[in-house]
Amino acid sequence: MRVLVVGSGGREHALCWKLKESPLVTALFCAPGNAGTRDVAFNVDIPVTNVGALALWAVENQIDLTVVGPEDPLSRGIANVFEEHGLRIVGPVKEAALLESSKSFAKEIMLKCGVSTPAGAVFTDHAAAKAYVLEHGAPIVVKADGLCAGKGVVVAETVDEAVAALDEFMLQERFGSSGATVVLEERIVGEEASVIVLVDGETILPLVVSQDYKRLKDNGLGPNTGGMGAISPTPVLGEKRLETLVGEIFGPVVAELRSRGIRYRGFLYAGVIVDREGVVRVLEFNCRLGDPETEVILMRLKSDLVEALDALSRGRLKSIELHWKTEAAACVVLASGGYPGEVDDGKMISGLFPPEPGLVVFHAGTVPEGELAKTKGGRVLTVSALGDTLNQAVRRAYEGVQRISFDGMQYRGDIGGGRW
Ligand SMILES: Nc1ncnc2c1ncn2[C@@H]1O[C@H](COP(=O)(O)OP(=O)(O)O)[C@@H](O)[C@H]1O
Ligand SMILES: [Mg+2]
Repeated sequence: MRVLVVGSGGREHALCWKLKESPLVTALFCAPGNAGTRDVAFNVDIPVTNVGALALWAVENQIDLTVVGPEDPLSRGIANVFEEHGLRIVGPVKEAALLESSKSFAKEIMLKCGVSTPAGAVFTDHAAAKAYVLEHGAPIVVKADGLCAGKGVVVAETVDEAVAALDEFMLQERFGSSGATVVLEERIVGEEASVIVLVDGETILPLVVSQDYKRLKDNGLGPNTGGMGAISPTPVLGEKRLETLVGEIFGPVVAELRSRGIRYRGFLYAGVIVDREGVVRVLEFNCRLGDPETEVILMRLKSDLVEALDALSRGRLKSIELHWKTEAAACVVLASGGYPGEVDDGKMISGLFPPEPGLVVFHAGTVPEGELAKTKGGRVLTVSALGDTLNQAVRRAYEGVQRISFDGMQYRGDIGGGRW
């Protein structure tokens, strides 16, 4: 099977690394890829946003299966275009990807089918939204409807803060049309986890639960980032609850979409929060794998991922069972100085090493420099490790981190609750 992975982050390197292991794969490509993916796949120089060019390339190169990493091409309809060309793809059509690209759509669906989610409402009118804030008071959460690269959510502690966010989103149009509609919802205090499943339109197959670390600094301080590390399993949400959650969250949502004539086929990710009483509520859906959650989840997967994704793309997920290692996994993201703000690219990376059993350095923002690699972008590398216990996995990952350096490198020292 000739397989194409779309994307260039740590998630896509981890996908390539895992797919490459399968005897079913005869050729593996990554568009555009990075300095790490070139070790396991052929990099193809087409940007993820050029979905037309990707489809033509896939036809010309007789690609049997394409796996999409990031949300941008999905919300642009890469799956629609590929399917028009008769190409099989893992990733939802854009009508289904609305679950991520429109928070109001997701909220409406969840409320409609009784999925546990914070109480809230959708507004397109600024005055009505402001009235709701004044009526409900603070704390309250203000969410811009569309894709805002993780910057469209304000957890407001005061009414003034909430109103300022409404002004910014709806009047000053900070995110353009993405903020014209907003979701207002109650603030929940709790701990977050990531629940990701495979869906072929009908059958839902869960991956192991994971948890990512969104803030830049230790102890959850500093600005939000794309994710600075991850663990799996997580004490926040035990794996025993997974089956129930699948039935309560994903089943109704996929069925509701189906009843509207929308087939969801691809990865589906629920960002959930677990409150002190153990009640699970869905904060958002993503229509793809998480990054860096993928870098721990795939370390734990024993089964052939190509077989599962091929079945998914044919609507035959029912025939697949996934098997997991009992070991735990942890990963630590190494980011450029200045991230999540402006960063300087082009720093040489030293100390990179090839995969070892239970320890892999996944590349994210790297570009080849001869045999070596230099930095390009905010999140540069993800060091992922397995261990008999979470503690051992964390220790192993940090041992890997110690071997690597580049100018300005920063990372969290408390992934998995440790202190390094
Ligand atoms: N209702 C809520 N209560 C408490 N915190 C929330 C709530 N909604 C969102 N958050 C916080 O804001 C973060 C971002 O919100 P999310 O809905 O995941 O949007 P996005 O990832 O698109 O920015 C969450 O990870 C969580 O920390
Ligand atoms: Mg989120």
